[in-house]
Amino acid sequence: MRTAIYPGSFDPFTNGHLDVVQRASRLFDRVIVAVAKSDGKHPLFLLEERKALVEQSIRDMPNVEADTFDGLLVNYAQKHSAQAVLRGLRAVSDFEFEFQMALMNRKLNDSFETIFMMPKDTYTFLSSRIVKEIARLGGDVNQFVPDHVQAALATKLGLKKI
Ligand code: PNS
Repeated sequence: MRTAIYPGSFDPFTNGHLDVVQRASRLFDRVIVAVAKSDGKHPLFLLEERKALVEQSIRDMPNVEADTFDGLLVNYAQKHSAQAVLRGLRAVSDFEFEFQMALMNRKLNDSFETIFMMPKDTYTFLSSRIVKEIARLGGDVNQFVPDHVQAALATKLGLKKI
């Protein structure tokens, strides 16, 4: 059983994240999308809300599940006997932070590999932060996130049409 953990804040889950999960689900027996508490990042959505948005997005992928975690990623990966931790790599600008994190995780626990996956080129520019900013300013995020995430953003930001 090859298990991969796909960790992130997912605030909120975007089509770029979904693209990575779809690719990973074809490579691994089991993929766990692990939503980090990330309190320090002051997320817009509560932890359980972020998990629920992931759950709705992965409904048609039987070998993918959503979970939450707090604390060190290496401990979470060990607990689930994961062989790999997945991270999406969009552009060179992502590299430095991701490289640091991967090597630090390896120092902390050498029992799994960090694997970088490139999302579809259409999503190279996409990030949860930019999606939130566009939504907050009244822009259309339809092409960047699943429909239910768009609806959740509208509700959360008080933009819902009545
Ligand atoms: O989507 P994000 O915010 O870029 O994800 C970052 C995340 C959650 C993967 C990273 O902050 C993390 O692994 N946090 C858990 C705490 C931890 O293990 N920190 C040490 C990383 S070297």
